[in-house]
Amino acid sequence: MQAGLFDTISTMRAMRRLKPDLVPEDLIEKILRAGQAAPNGGNTQEWGVLVVRDEAVKQAVQVLYQKAYDEYVGGGYAARLAAMPGGDERDRYARQVAAVEHLTRNYHKAPVWLVACLKVGPRGANPMSGASIYPAVQNMLLAARALGLGATLTTRHMIFGDEVDAILGLPEGVKSFAIVPVGYPEGRFGPVRREPLESFAHDGEWGKPFTAAG
Ligand SMILES: Cc1cc2nc3c(=O)[nH]c(=O)nc-3n(C[C@H](O)[C@H](O)[C@H](O)COP(=O)(O)O)c2cc1C
Repeated sequence: MQAGLFDTISTMRAMRRLKPDLVPEDLIEKILRAGQAAPNGGNTQEWGVLVVRDEAVKQAVQVLYQKAYDEYVGGGYAARLAAMPGGDERDRYARQVAAVEHLTRNYHKAPVWLVACLKVGPRGANPMSGASIYPAVQNMLLAARALGLGATLTTRHMIFGDEVDAILGLPEGVKSFAIVPVGYPEGRFGPVRREPLESFAHDGEWGKPFTAAG
């Protein structure tokens, strides 16, 4: 039984704790077809998704993903956590940090990775490049959720992007923009937590909250 679109969207959390069980190939194909249906600039489709199952390749990339956490990212999480007063919000954030660290340690143990790539050519990526690949990533995340699979959009590997792309064997001019580890989730899907709509949606002028009543 597949959830409806709006339920799927509102429960598509980052699922960072995954079982090692293999993901059936027909489900991977469904996810890939959802990705390929996404908008992309001029429909030029200068993109591709590398399906990675090879343990040695994933392990080599995990080493860099962990290094990026240890040397660049982890300190920020720790500092923010240390500055938070005790309470529910801190507890939630501590759980998020624990999940991020779990995924970091176990990145390579996800049974399959979907590596979303763009053909950027000799001039490399420009500030708009991601606009033509992240819609495909989002479609794949939603498709995975709809099929009962857990996944997370990750980009931290890009701190060592050239080294990672070499490990992945990407040809010259092709660059990875996201690695999405996919597997059956250990935990349950639940609602995403976001600020109230008023802080997100502005009506006519910035700062005037949108309300459906107008
Ligand atoms: C551009 C981008 C990059 C992200 N990179 C990572 C990452 O490298 N590792 C990770 O664990 N989560 C990553 N995330 C997931 C976010 O942390 C997550 O979406 C956010 O905390 C909200 O959590 P939720 O989606 O579970 O509600 C990334 C999300 C985005 C949009």
